[in-house]
Amino acid sequence: MTKRSVRQVLQGRPTSDGGGVRLTRLISPEQGLDPFLLLDEFDSDAADDYLAGFPAHPHRGFETVTYMLDGHMLHEDHLGNRGELKPGGVQWMTAGRGIVHSEMPQQVAGRMRGFQLWINLPAVDKMKPAAYQDLEPELIPRVAVSGGEVGVVAGQFVAADGGIVAGPISGGATQPLYLDVALAAGAALEVATPPGHTVLAYVFEGEVTMDGRTLTKGTLALLNEGDTLALLGTERATRVLVIGGRPLGEPVVHYGPFVMNTADEIRQAVRDFQSGRLTA
Ligand code: CO
Repeated sequence: MTKRSVRQVLQGRPTSDGGGVRLTRLISPEQGLDPFLLLDEFDSDAADDYLAGFPAHPHRGFETVTYMLDGHMLHEDHLGNRGELKPGGVQWMTAGRGIVHSEMPQQVAGRMRGFQLWINLPAVDKMKPAAYQDLEPELIPRVAVSGGEVGVVAGQFVAADGGIVAGPISGGATQPLYLDVALAAGAALEVATPPGHTVLAYVFEGEVTMDGRTLTKGTLALLNEGDTLALLGTERATRVLVIGGRPLGEPVVHYGPFVMNTADEIRQAVRDFQSGRLTA
Protein backbone atom coordinates (compact mmCIF):
# COMPACT_ATOMS: atom_id res chain seq x y z
CA MET A 1 0.00 0.00 0.00
CA THR A 2 1.42 3.36 -1.01
CA LYS A 3 0.07 6.40 0.77
CA ARG A 4 -0.61 9.40 -1.37
CA SER A 5 1.48 12.41 -0.36
CA VAL A 6 0.37 16.01 -0.79
CA ARG A 7 1.65 17.51 -4.04
CA GLN A 8 0.07 20.93 -3.73
CA VAL A 9 -2.25 22.82 -1.41
CA LEU A 10 -4.65 25.36 -2.87
CA GLN A 11 -7.30 27.81 -1.73
CA GLY A 12 -10.29 28.57 -3.91
CA ARG A 13 -11.02 32.01 -5.27
CA PRO A 14 -14.31 33.88 -4.91
CA THR A 15 -16.25 34.43 -8.12
CA SER A 16 -19.83 34.37 -9.39
CA ASP A 17 -21.59 32.36 -12.07
CA GLY A 18 -25.04 31.65 -13.45
CA GLY A 19 -27.38 34.59 -12.89
CA GLY A 20 -24.93 35.94 -10.29
CA VAL A 21 -24.51 33.28 -7.64
CA ARG A 22 -21.56 33.87 -5.34
CA LEU A 23 -19.33 30.86 -5.10
CA THR A 24 -15.79 29.69 -4.53
CA ARG A 25 -13.98 28.19 -7.54
CA LEU A 26 -11.70 25.48 -6.19
CA ILE A 27 -10.42 24.17 -9.50
CA SER A 28 -10.75 25.48 -13.04
CA PRO A 29 -10.05 23.98 -16.49
CA GLU A 30 -6.67 25.72 -17.00
CA GLN A 31 -5.19 23.66 -14.15
CA GLY A 32 -5.29 20.51 -16.24
CA LEU A 33 -6.42 18.21 -13.42
CA ASP A 34 -7.50 15.57 -15.95
CA PRO A 35 -10.29 14.35 -15.90
CA PHE A 36 -11.60 17.17 -13.69
CA LEU A 37 -12.45 20.53 -15.19
CA LEU A 38 -14.02 22.54 -12.42
CA LEU A 39 -15.07 22.33 -8.78
CA ASP A 40 -17.23 25.05 -7.28
CA GLU A 41 -18.41 25.38 -3.69
CA PHE A 42 -21.43 27.49 -2.88
CA ASP A 43 -22.14 28.26 0.77
CA SER A 44 -24.15 31.22 1.97
CA ASP A 45 -27.04 32.04 4.25
CA ALA A 46 -27.52 35.43 2.57
CA ALA A 47 -30.28 35.00 0.00
CA ASP A 48 -28.85 37.72 -2.27
CA ASP A 49 -25.84 35.46 -2.82
CA TYR A 50 -27.89 32.69 -4.45
CA LEU A 51 -31.38 33.92 -5.42
CA ALA A 52 -30.39 34.61 -9.04
CA GLY A 53 -29.73 30.89 -9.48
CA PHE A 54 -28.54 29.33 -12.72
CA PRO A 55 -31.10 30.20 -15.43
CA ALA A 56 -31.29 28.12 -18.64
CA HIS A 57 -27.84 27.46 -20.12
CA PRO A 58 -26.25 24.79 -22.34
CA HIS A 59 -23.49 22.22 -21.84
CA ARG A 60 -21.68 19.88 -24.24
CA GLY A 61 -18.89 17.37 -23.85
CA PHE A 62 -18.68 16.57 -20.12
CA GLU A 63 -20.58 15.66 -16.95
CA THR A 64 -21.75 17.86 -14.08
CA VAL A 65 -22.22 16.53 -10.56
CA THR A 66 -24.12 18.63 -8.05
CA TYR A 67 -24.02 17.57 -4.40
CA MET A 68 -26.34 19.47 -2.09
CA LEU A 69 -25.58 19.88 1.60
CA ASP A 70 -28.13 22.53 2.57
CA GLY A 71 -30.99 24.21 0.78
CA HIS A 72 -33.33 23.40 -2.06
CA MET A 73 -32.83 23.84 -5.79
CA LEU A 74 -34.93 22.71 -8.75
CA HIS A 75 -33.28 21.30 -11.88
CA GLU A 76 -35.20 21.42 -15.16
CA ASP A 77 -33.86 20.51 -18.60
CA HIS A 78 -34.93 20.39 -22.25
CA LEU A 79 -35.51 16.62 -21.97
CA GLY A 80 -38.34 17.31 -19.53
CA ASN A 81 -36.48 16.16 -16.43
CA ARG A 82 -37.37 17.87 -13.17
CA GLY A 83 -35.27 17.15 -10.12
CA GLU A 84 -35.58 18.48 -6.61
CA LEU A 85 -32.13 18.97 -5.13
CA LYS A 86 -32.31 18.63 -1.36
CA PRO A 87 -29.73 18.12 1.41
CA GLY A 88 -27.73 14.95 0.83
CA GLY A 89 -29.01 14.55 -2.73
CA VAL A 90 -26.97 14.41 -5.92
CA GLN A 91 -27.68 15.33 -9.52
CA TRP A 92 -25.45 13.50 -12.02
CA MET A 93 -25.87 14.99 -15.46
CA THR A 94 -24.09 13.74 -18.56
CA ALA A 95 -24.31 16.58 -21.05
CA GLY A 96 -23.02 14.49 -23.94
CA ARG A 97 -23.84 16.21 -27.25
CA GLY A 98 -25.97 18.79 -25.54
CA ILE A 99 -28.32 19.73 -22.78
CA VAL A 100 -29.99 22.98 -21.81
CA HIS A 101 -30.90 23.16 -18.15
CA SER A 102 -31.57 25.48 -15.25
CA GLU A 103 -30.94 25.15 -11.54
CA MET A 104 -33.02 27.59 -9.53
CA PRO A 105 -33.34 28.13 -5.76
CA GLN A 106 -36.64 27.07 -4.21
CA GLN A 107 -36.13 29.13 -1.06
CA VAL A 108 -35.93 32.85 -0.33
CA ALA A 109 -34.03 32.55 2.94
CA GLY A 110 -31.75 30.16 4.78
CA ARG A 111 -28.50 28.43 3.98
CA MET A 112 -27.63 27.17 0.49
CA ARG A 113 -24.57 24.95 0.45
CA GLY A 114 -23.12 22.37 -1.89
CA PHE A 115 -20.68 21.57 -4.68
CA GLN A 116 -20.64 21.31 -8.43
CA LEU A 117 -17.96 19.22 -10.10
CA TRP A 118 -17.32 19.01 -13.86
CA ILE A 119 -15.86 15.72 -15.10
CA ASN A 120 -14.60 15.48 -18.65
CA LEU A 121 -15.87 12.88 -21.12
CA PRO A 122 -13.60 11.07 -23.60
CA ALA A 123 -13.93 11.93 -27.30
CA VAL A 124 -15.89 8.74 -27.89
CA ASP A 125 -18.61 9.82 -25.40
CA LYS A 126 -18.78 13.57 -26.04
CA MET A 127 -21.52 13.35 -28.67
CA LYS A 128 -23.66 10.72 -26.97
CA PRO A 129 -27.23 11.67 -26.06
CA ALA A 130 -27.60 13.62 -22.82
CA ALA A 131 -28.50 11.70 -19.67
CA TYR A 132 -29.61 12.74 -16.22
CA GLN A 133 -29.78 10.98 -12.87
CA ASP A 134 -31.48 12.44 -9.84
CA LEU A 135 -30.13 10.64 -6.77
CA GLU A 136 -32.23 11.06 -3.67
CA PRO A 137 -30.31 11.23 -0.36
CA GLU A 138 -31.38 7.69 0.58
CA LEU A 139 -29.62 6.33 -2.54
CA ILE A 140 -26.24 7.51 -1.21
CA PRO A 141 -24.83 4.83 1.14
CA ARG A 142 -23.60 6.21 4.47
CA VAL A 143 -20.99 3.81 5.81
CA ALA A 144 -20.20 3.90 9.54
CA VAL A 145 -16.45 3.93 10.20
CA SER A 146 -14.54 4.23 13.46
CA GLY A 147 -15.22 7.81 14.59
CA GLY A 148 -17.16 8.83 11.54
CA GLU A 149 -19.15 8.15 8.43
CA VAL A 150 -18.47 7.99 4.69
CA GLY A 151 -21.06 8.95 2.08
CA VAL A 152 -20.40 7.07 -1.15
CA VAL A 153 -21.68 9.13 -4.09
CA ALA A 154 -19.61 7.40 -6.78
CA GLY A 155 -17.09 4.58 -6.96
CA GLN A 156 -16.34 2.28 -4.06
CA PHE A 157 -15.43 2.65 -0.42
CA VAL A 158 -13.48 -0.22 1.12
CA ALA A 159 -14.38 -0.58 4.79
CA ALA A 160 -11.94 -1.67 7.53
CA ASP A 161 -13.43 -5.19 7.49
CA GLY A 162 -12.71 -5.43 3.77
CA GLY A 163 -16.32 -4.97 2.80
CA ILE A 164 -16.88 -2.93 -0.35
CA VAL A 165 -19.67 -0.39 -0.49
CA ALA A 166 -20.49 0.90 -3.95
CA GLY A 167 -22.12 4.24 -4.63
CA PRO A 168 -24.98 4.66 -7.09
CA ILE A 169 -22.60 5.88 -9.83
CA SER A 170 -19.79 3.68 -11.12
CA GLY A 171 -17.70 3.01 -14.19
CA GLY A 172 -17.58 5.05 -17.36
CA ALA A 173 -14.29 6.13 -18.87
CA THR A 174 -13.23 8.16 -15.82
CA GLN A 175 -14.35 5.64 -13.15
CA PRO A 176 -15.15 8.46 -10.72
CA LEU A 177 -14.68 8.23 -6.97
CA TYR A 178 -16.69 10.73 -4.93
CA LEU A 179 -16.74 10.35 -1.14
CA ASP A 180 -18.00 12.62 1.64
CA VAL A 181 -15.92 11.71 4.70
CA ALA A 182 -17.00 12.92 8.15
CA LEU A 183 -14.60 12.29 11.05
CA ALA A 184 -14.89 13.14 14.73
CA ALA A 185 -11.98 14.80 16.53
CA GLY A 186 -9.05 12.42 16.78
CA ALA A 187 -10.46 9.80 14.42
CA ALA A 188 -8.32 8.34 11.63
CA LEU A 189 -9.28 6.75 8.33
CA GLU A 190 -7.48 5.24 5.36
CA VAL A 191 -9.37 5.65 2.11
CA ALA A 192 -8.57 3.36 -0.81
CA THR A 193 -8.00 5.40 -3.97
CA PRO A 194 -7.56 3.64 -7.33
CA PRO A 195 -3.92 3.76 -8.50
CA GLY A 196 -3.45 5.97 -11.53
CA HIS A 197 -6.42 8.15 -10.63
CA THR A 198 -6.09 11.90 -10.22
CA VAL A 199 -7.14 12.39 -6.58
CA LEU A 200 -7.94 15.54 -4.65
CA ALA A 201 -9.24 16.16 -1.16
CA TYR A 202 -11.17 19.24 -0.08
CA VAL A 203 -11.63 20.11 3.59
CA PHE A 204 -15.01 21.78 3.91
CA GLU A 205 -15.45 21.62 7.68
CA GLY A 206 -12.99 21.72 10.56
CA GLU A 207 -9.46 20.50 9.92
CA VAL A 208 -7.59 17.28 9.18
CA THR A 209 -3.99 16.12 8.84
CA MET A 210 -2.78 14.52 5.59
CA ASP A 211 0.83 13.59 4.90
CA GLY A 212 1.92 15.42 8.05
CA ARG A 213 0.21 18.67 7.07
CA THR A 214 -2.80 20.03 8.91
CA LEU A 215 -5.27 21.45 6.43
CA THR A 216 -8.09 23.72 7.55
CA LYS A 217 -11.57 24.38 6.15
CA GLY A 218 -11.38 25.82 2.65
CA THR A 219 -8.17 23.99 1.68
CA LEU A 220 -7.86 21.74 -1.36
CA ALA A 221 -5.04 19.18 -1.51
CA LEU A 222 -3.84 17.71 -4.80
CA LEU A 223 -2.33 14.31 -4.13
CA ASN A 224 0.53 12.37 -5.60
CA GLU A 225 0.27 8.83 -6.93
CA GLY A 226 -0.59 6.03 -4.50
CA ASP A 227 -3.37 3.67 -3.58
CA THR A 228 -4.56 5.06 -0.24
CA LEU A 229 -5.20 8.41 1.36
CA ALA A 230 -4.58 8.59 5.12
CA LEU A 231 -6.75 11.10 7.01
CA LEU A 232 -5.80 11.84 10.59
CA GLY A 233 -8.14 13.82 12.80
CA THR A 234 -6.99 16.74 14.90
CA GLU A 235 -8.73 18.03 18.02
CA ARG A 236 -11.46 19.32 15.71
CA ALA A 237 -14.01 17.29 13.76
CA THR A 238 -13.78 17.47 10.01
CA ARG A 239 -15.57 16.82 6.76
CA VAL A 240 -13.60 16.14 3.59
CA LEU A 241 -14.60 15.48 -0.01
CA VAL A 242 -12.35 12.86 -1.58
CA ILE A 243 -12.64 12.96 -5.36
CA GLY A 244 -10.80 10.77 -7.85
CA GLY A 245 -10.95 9.96 -11.54
CA ARG A 246 -8.99 8.18 -14.25
CA PRO A 247 -7.19 10.70 -16.48
CA LEU A 248 -8.32 10.66 -20.12
CA GLY A 249 -5.04 11.90 -21.61
CA GLU A 250 -6.83 13.73 -24.43
CA PRO A 251 -6.54 17.35 -25.58
CA VAL A 252 -8.97 19.67 -23.80
CA VAL A 253 -10.41 22.78 -25.45
CA HIS A 254 -12.74 24.67 -23.13
CA TYR A 255 -15.02 27.56 -24.01
CA GLY A 256 -17.67 28.56 -21.45
CA PRO A 257 -20.11 25.65 -21.09
CA PHE A 258 -18.51 23.55 -23.85
CA VAL A 259 -15.53 21.23 -23.41
CA MET A 260 -14.28 19.43 -26.51
CA ASN A 261 -11.02 18.07 -27.95
CA THR A 262 -10.43 20.64 -30.72
CA ALA A 263 -11.16 24.30 -31.47
CA ASP A 264 -13.20 23.19 -34.51
CA GLU A 265 -15.46 21.13 -32.27
CA ILE A 266 -15.95 24.16 -30.01
CA ARG A 267 -16.91 26.31 -33.01
CA GLN A 268 -19.37 23.59 -34.02
CA ALA A 269 -20.85 23.55 -30.49
CA VAL A 270 -21.39 27.32 -30.60
CA ARG A 271 -23.02 27.08 -34.05
CA ASP A 272 -25.18 24.17 -32.93
CA PHE A 273 -26.32 26.08 -29.85
CA GLN A 274 -27.10 29.24 -31.83
CA SER A 275 -29.12 27.27 -34.39
CA GLY A 276 -30.94 25.11 -31.85
CA ARG A 277 -29.16 21.91 -32.94
CA LEU A 278 -27.34 21.37 -29.66
CA THR A 279 -30.39 19.66 -28.23
CA ALA A 280 -31.99 18.49 -31.50
CO1 CO B 1 -25.19 23.78 -15.79
